[in-house]
Amino acid sequence: MDLTGLSSKGRLLLVFCVSIFLYTSTDAEGSCKLKAKFNLRGYKEVLKRTVVVGGMFPVHQRLVDTDANTTIPPESSDCEGFNFRAFRWTQTMLFALNEINDRPDLLPRTELGYVIYDSCFTISKAVEGTLTFLTGQDEAVPNYRCGDGPPLSALVGAGGSDLSIATARILGLYYFPQMSYCSSCSVLESRFQYPTFLRTIPSDEHQSVAMAKLVLHFGWTWVGTIAAEDDYGKYGIKRFKEVVEEAGVCISFSETLPKISNPEAMERIAQTVLDSTAKIIVVFSSDVDLKPLLDELLRNNITNRTWIASEAWVTSAAISRHPDILPVLGGTIGFAVKQAEIPGLKEHLLGVSPYNDTLTEEFWGIVFNCTLSYRQVMRGMKRCTGEEMIETLNNTYSDVSQLRITYNVYKAVYAVAYALHNLETCVPGSGPFENGTCADINKFEPWQLMYYLKNLQFTVPHTGEHIFFNDGDVDGFYEILNWQSDSDGEITYSHIGYYNSSAPADDRLIINNASIIWNNDVLETPRSVCSERCQPGTRMGIRQGEPVCCFDCIPCADGEITNTTDARGCLQCDEDYWSNANHDECVPKTIEFLDFSEPLGITLIAIAAFGALAAIVVVIIFLMHLNTPLVKANDPLLSFSLLLGLVITFLSSIVFLGEPQKWSCMTSQVALAVGFALVLSSLMGKSSLLMLRARAVKAVKSATRAAKAAAAAAEQSPDTEVIAPAIPQKNDVDPIHPRHQRAMMIVGTLIQAVGCTVWLILMPPHPIKNTAAQNIKIILECDIGNIIFICSIFAYDILLALLAFAFAFVARKLEDHFNEGKSMTFGMMVFFIVWISFVPAYLSTRGKFMVAVQIFAILASSFGLLACVFIPKCYVLLVKPERNTVEMMIPRVKSRDAGVSLATNSSSANGTTVSTVSLDG
Ligand code: TRP
Repeated sequence: MDLTGLSSKGRLLLVFCVSIFLYTSTDAEGSCKLKAKFNLRGYKEVLKRTVVVGGMFPVHQRLVDTDANTTIPPESSDCEGFNFRAFRWTQTMLFALNEINDRPDLLPRTELGYVIYDSCFTISKAVEGTLTFLTGQDEAVPNYRCGDGPPLSALVGAGGSDLSIATARILGLYYFPQMSYCSSCSVLESRFQYPTFLRTIPSDEHQSVAMAKLVLHFGWTWVGTIAAEDDYGKYGIKRFKEVVEEAGVCISFSETLPKISNPEAMERIAQTVLDSTAKIIVVFSSDVDLKPLLDELLRNNITNRTWIASEAWVTSAAISRHPDILPVLGGTIGFAVKQAEIPGLKEHLLGVSPYNDTLTEEFWGIVFNCTLSYRQVMRGMKRCTGEEMIETLNNTYSDVSQLRITYNVYKAVYAVAYALHNLETCVPGSGPFENGTCADINKFEPWQLMYYLKNLQFTVPHTGEHIFFNDGDVDGFYEILNWQSDSDGEITYSHIGYYNSSAPADDRLIINNASIIWNNDVLETPRSVCSERCQPGTRMGIRQGEPVCCFDCIPCADGEITNTTDARGCLQCDEDYWSNANHDECVPKTIEFLDFSEPLGITLIAIAAFGALAAIVVVIIFLMHLNTPLVKANDPLLSFSLLLGLVITFLSSIVFLGEPQKWSCMTSQVALAVGFALVLSSLMGKSSLLMLRARAVKAVKSATRAAKAAAAAAEQSPDTEVIAPAIPQKNDVDPIHPRHQRAMMIVGTLIQAVGCTVWLILMPPHPIKNTAAQNIKIILECDIGNIIFICSIFAYDILLALLAFAFAFVARKLEDHFNEGKSMTFGMMVFFIVWISFVPAYLSTRGKFMVAVQIFAILASSFGLLACVFIPKCYVLLVKPERNTVEMMIPRVKSRDAGVSLATNSSSANGTTVSTVSLDG
């Protein structure tokens, strides 16, 4: 250690101090021992200086690995891995101090001295340095500062955030100011925990938010993160994650880079990067910690990723000057702190002399691959001449193209100097301290300097940047850099935008997208999503156990839609709406009913009209032949009522067509029911007469047979008196009068009419929209009001039909010349067949075709009846009028022995036609 300032006088003082410590200590043993010997390297210049400024830089990257052997006294480790970049920072501090000492306007009466230690990028070394620094001697004696050297002002350092956190804890105890140039971790914002910590680098709070904004700016929702295993990495990534996750971005993987070399961990991380579908990887780490991963990435040739760099590695030559790096890290986007040019720095850097101190000596040896140590020369190493041309060196140390952290060091030294300047120029009486007093530059307390640092405002020389601390922190300003390749295939940092945390929210991130060169084959903005967006018509379906950004797009069910992309759920269409084919819009359901104007409707109307017309034609024919025996044979009034009923049923079928209305619903069923009741009760009336006639004929037949048998018996035994059975006499064959028939017809119809009226009043049928039967259609139909009513009303019709059929069936063999009984039986059978087959047909159809089936049944059964009952009569009336005679009307008894015939006498009584059957011979 090159602590040249430690004179024999100083040593004496140390002994004095320690004795005081012993004296005041309550330790019972009454002696004190130095328990550890630190091993620190650095620069020191305190002789004849008024004030001393402390500094701490990670000139080495790590401690030498010593085996934990407890059989010998432990020693403070040595450091290894010389860091040219940090060495440049150290030299910059010396440069700035020289510059300040040379300035007549800044601290004119004060010479600044310095004590600078190498923190070796390790917390333990940083703590060693801090303790030693506070003691003011080579040995650390906590709580004492010994010697009469110049007062210590502040510490510039200590490098990485975790080092600064450790030193700031100790320095805070003594209220000793610390001015950091690169410790950006957000936890250092806390003035409660770190009361004397200030910095010239913005807090990572801004950087993490800026990175998150960048990710959101490009619409990336699937990113991987890698953090160094220190406070910088962990807190930086933590805040980044918080912001992006709040905005719906998912983290594909989160890895930490170990501080201690661990090849397996590196392999695992590289494999994770390779396996992940995330194309964007955010890395919060220093270049030193990232380097091993980089080697692994190169070995695996992991390309086609876009890396987001934090300020600690974005302009690191150790990363970007790595050979073959372009395919892997080309296109990287990173955040860098402000850059500046410092005139004269290059000359200072090149002007170092190898003979001044051990650090420079080591530097010299490494860059020129020689040694200044006699012992090493003896071992055969090349000897340095000390005249090597450092100007020819093309090394990170002498590269002053990216002075960013270097510029922060420069600013930090100046901040301390300006604070001291303010302290020195304080006018007694108007000073900031008690009673307007000032502090004395030759023996001030650290808290007094702290006051000046807190309230400091100054302009940085050469760059003109205005600096002030806002509770120890500076504004968050970053340049956004893109790694592009120049003509030689080397990486250049291209400026593509900036982030300014003090700008209005919308203008904070300014990026020129066009100037970015991406690291992919297509040269366009990469996409990084876990699942592609869900188009309208589909919804996002979560995948169990995966982040929310990974989902499946599930098509909406029928009747449901989504009209936005990435919809979380489908929306049910309103009652009268249904989804279209793409499921992205609700369209009105098609309204369905059997319309008059469609072909089926027109056909049905035509058939119904034809049927009604045919019935009317029959009425006309009957009216024209009203007085003929055939018409008169069975009460013509009943024929007319039957025909009227048929006309009603034909016409009622038309009412079933068209859009259902209240009136049409009410009339259609009722007209049908009453129409059928009229038809069937008329038929019943007619067939009841026929039945009675048939029975009469049967009675005559058996009487005749009995009479004949009696006559034969009389011939054989004339003595015996045979009582001939009474042969039924004429005219009492028709036991019912047309009056009765009509009454049957009227009563039959009336019952139905009353039933229907009750139904209409209590629970009338009404139109409804049936949306349940078919999804895509609204079927307009009639709700029958009450199922019991409609059933009983049609059951009544069935009853009438059965009666009519039964009567006709009995009379079917009655042989009049136009076979009325037979044709009625046949008509009724057609009627039954039609309605029986209607049931399955009706139940198996849907929508408007149900109406069509119903109409068909009505028409078919009506036509059946019309045709069966009236065609034979009309045939006789029109084609064979010669058969239309009274004789032909008489039912014949169709038997070999029968000379019996039923003659129908018609006479007019009470203005009504009365049929009687007379029995001749
Ligand atoms: N910002 C880092 C931290 O807080 C330190 C840092 C910045 C750094 N730039 C660097 C470390 C370059 C090494 C190299 O920890």
